[in-house]
Order: sequence, then structure tokens, then C-alpha cells
Amino acid sequence: MDLLRKKDVDDVIHQNDDTGEESGHGRLKQNLSALDLIGFGIGIVIGTGIFTLTGLQAHDNAGPAVTISFLIAGAVALLAALCYAELASAVPTAGSSYTYSYTTIGEIFAWIIAWDLILEFALGSAVVARGWSGYLAGVFGLPDRWFAEEGSVVNLGAMGIVLMLGVVAMIGIRESAWVTNGLVVVKVAVCLFVIAVGAFYVKTGNLVPFIPESKPPAGGSESGLHSPLWQWVTGIEPATFGITGIFVAAAVVFFAYSGFEAVANLGEETRKPARDMPLGLLGTLGVCTALYVGVCLVITGMVHYSDLSKGDAVADVFDQVGLEWAGILIGIAAVAGLTSVILVDLVAMPRIGLALARDGLLPDAFRRIHPTWGTPVLMTGITVVAVALLAGFIPISVLAEMVSIGTLFAFVVVAVAVIVLRRTQPEMKRPFRTPWVPILPLVTVFSCVGLMASLKVDTWLRFLVWLVLGFVVYFAYGYRHSRLNTHTKASA
Ligand code: ALA
Repeated sequence: MDLLRKKDVDDVIHQNDDTGEESGHGRLKQNLSALDLIGFGIGIVIGTGIFTLTGLQAHDNAGPAVTISFLIAGAVALLAALCYAELASAVPTAGSSYTYSYTTIGEIFAWIIAWDLILEFALGSAVVARGWSGYLAGVFGLPDRWFAEEGSVVNLGAMGIVLMLGVVAMIGIRESAWVTNGLVVVKVAVCLFVIAVGAFYVKTGNLVPFIPESKPPAGGSESGLHSPLWQWVTGIEPATFGITGIFVAAAVVFFAYSGFEAVANLGEETRKPARDMPLGLLGTLGVCTALYVGVCLVITGMVHYSDLSKGDAVADVFDQVGLEWAGILIGIAAVAGLTSVILVDLVAMPRIGLALARDGLLPDAFRRIHPTWGTPVLMTGITVVAVALLAGFIPISVLAEMVSIGTLFAFVVVAVAVIVLRRTQPEMKRPFRTPWVPILPLVTVFSCVGLMASLKVDTWLRFLVWLVLGFVVYFAYGYRHSRLNTHTKASA
């Protein structure tokens, strides 16, 4: 596994720093604090997962026990965050787990992880854009054919919001963070409002039994490509609800936690990464889990899970108990909140491309930083156009499962990287140390693979196709232009 010598790694990182002085290839501005990171993290994490998937999964798979699904998914994310925090504080450069894997298990693995992260961020923002469009249509009664998840050929609402926010992302991190912070406040406020006001309308009868009895799926047994992988492998008959339903729902609602690692992409723009990065990651996750659990308990307590809306459950439960004004308020706030998720995604993703270009795995033009705006302008432009197309044409369920599998896969690589780095670079300064290495990272790997196994076979196949495409791009361009390879050959 030790494909790189430490000197090579140091030289590559150093070389990146040096090239930062070239005109137009500058370092990003260092202007973010721990609180900014938490705000940024909440901005990207709370979104369609809690606003849309909660109702859907409670209704179809888990009942009130969707709360347990969120806790399971949150626990896996916490394990991964503890691994991320060590590497993010030790390797504070743009690129997230890409950079960590570059410095630990080698370029080809780093490329795979970056390719995977591109999938996660691009598809994630497309999912949220489609969710955004649906909520907007619900609040303002807009026509289904241009805005609804079902019934629209091209989702113009989703495309429009991506293009608009793309312009904001291009203008720069300072402006983006400012806009995002305002929207984050709205999003947290709406979750607190749902919990505080909704709590008065909870009927304990709706929460009993908390784990509904297991039963065969409506419409008969699913099999083949649409079954969870573990079931396809073991041949066990599919069931909804019960313990199985909790885990199937956990794999899907894991989407609700995806994106928190984008905080780690901002190490280079953080004033004191050693202290602020772990605080930013763990703080983000703690706040989000608390809000998710509260919202899940309240909405499944307000109406019976079989009556939950599959589209806008969080607003709809208030309509159902006679508080229409609250439903409209929550709908508007959800639109604002989802806006911030799309924006933060569009800001974070180009940083991965920037890191790739710095290492020679993508053409030089991609690492160009705009002299005034201080953003990777070409990467941002490409990201925005690609996300707009995905959001316009691909169904939300296909996109969401792909994000879950991509995120979980990235976490596996990061957890492995922590173990490898402790062995290969024991003297490296680690301002934050993951506890109980190697036990905790191994448990992280096991948990992530367990959740991945609850995702459908066709999701696995799509993911494999994406990875193969990544290999093609790597061997067609990155392998021959990589700075590390060039350097290794030169010094041989
Ligand atoms: N985690 C984000 C959401 O729930 C992507 O929308």
C-alpha cells in the first residue's frame, strides 16, 4: 500500500504551494473561523434528507422508527467524522479525502476518491435542486410539468435555481458564505419551530408501535436489480418495516448527512485549521443529528406514518393538524433552506477539481483562480452546467441512492487512510488524533459497508460504471500528466 515515499509526498505538496505564487494560480484566501465552518457545514448538510426523505422512508419502510434510522446513519457519519478530523487537521489543503488518500495510499486511489467525491457533490446538489423545485411548486401552486418530481419531462425549476446560484458561487467564497449564513439561520429556525410547535400536537398513539411489524413489500416481492445488495446475495425474502426496514431506511436517509465532509475541503481557507477543522466537522454533525431526531419524532408523532406526505411531509403535517399558516411558513423556509444546500455544494465541489489540477491529474486551466473573486472560476462554471443538466433530467431517487453509496465509499477510504498514515508517517504532526486506532477506523469501514449493502443492486452497478469511467479518464490523461509521476521519473 505504501506506494509513495514520504519525500515524494512532501515535494508534491510543497510544489503545489510554490506553484501557488504563479500569476493566476494563487492560494485561496484564509478567512474562515470554526463557527463559519459549522455554518457552512449545516448549510450543506440539512436539506432534502430531512425535508423530503423522512416522510418517504417513514411511510414506506420504517414508520416512527425512521428516528432510529437517522440515529444509525448519524452514528456512522460520526465515526467517519472522527477519522476525517485527524486527516483534515493534519493535511489542511483543498481537496478533502482526495488529498488524504494522495498522501497515504497513492495517486490512483486518490484519483478514485476524487472521482467519487465529484459524483457525490454533483448528484447531491441536483437532488436538492429537484427537492427545492417541488417545495416551491407546493407553496406557490406552480405547474407540475415544469416543477414537479413526477410529471415533468424537464425540471426547469431545478435547472433555474442551479444556474442562478452558480453565479453567486463564482463571485467568491466571502459572498457565498455571507448569503449562506443567512439561509442557515432560516433552516435551523424552521427545524426548531417544527420541534417546539409540533410537540404540542404529538399523539403518543401515532408512535405506538414504534417499530411497525415486518411485512412483505406492497406490490409483491422486489427482486433482482431493485433489491438491496445483501438480500440479493443471501436470497432472503424482502420485507418492509421491522428491523430490516430500519436498516433499508438508514441507508437511504444517510443522504441527509452527506456533505458534512465538505467542511474538510475548506482547510486551506481556514484561519487555524488544526483547531477549527475538528470543531467544524464534529460541531456540524452534532447540531444536525439533534435537529433530525427532534424533527423525526415530532412529525411521526403528529400524524400516523401511513398518512405522511411523500413529498413535503414536514409542512404537510401542520396542514393535517389544522395549522395551515405554519405549513406555508415551513414550506417557504424549506425553499430557502434548500437553496443554501445547493449553494454550498456548488462552492465546495470545484475545490476538488482545483486539487486535481494542482497535482496534474486535470489540465492546468482548471486550477486558475480568478484574480478578483478568488475562486476556481473554470471549475465552478463546468460544475454549474453539469449539475443543471442532471437536475433537469434525472429522477431524484436514482440520484439520492448514488450519493449515499458514493459518500459511504469515500468514508471507507478515509478510515483506511487513517490506519495507513499512522504506520507510514508516525511522526507526522496530528493536532487532532482519532481515538482507538485501528479499532475505530475498522468499525467505521464495517459500518459503512453494512449500510452500502442495504442499497439496491442497480445503484451498485451504476456506481461501478462511474468508477470504470474514472479509470478511463485517469489513464487517458492523469497518469501521463501527473506531477508526482513526472517528479518520480525525473529523480530516478
Ligand atoms: N445532506 C444534504 C441533504 O439532506 C445533501 O439534502
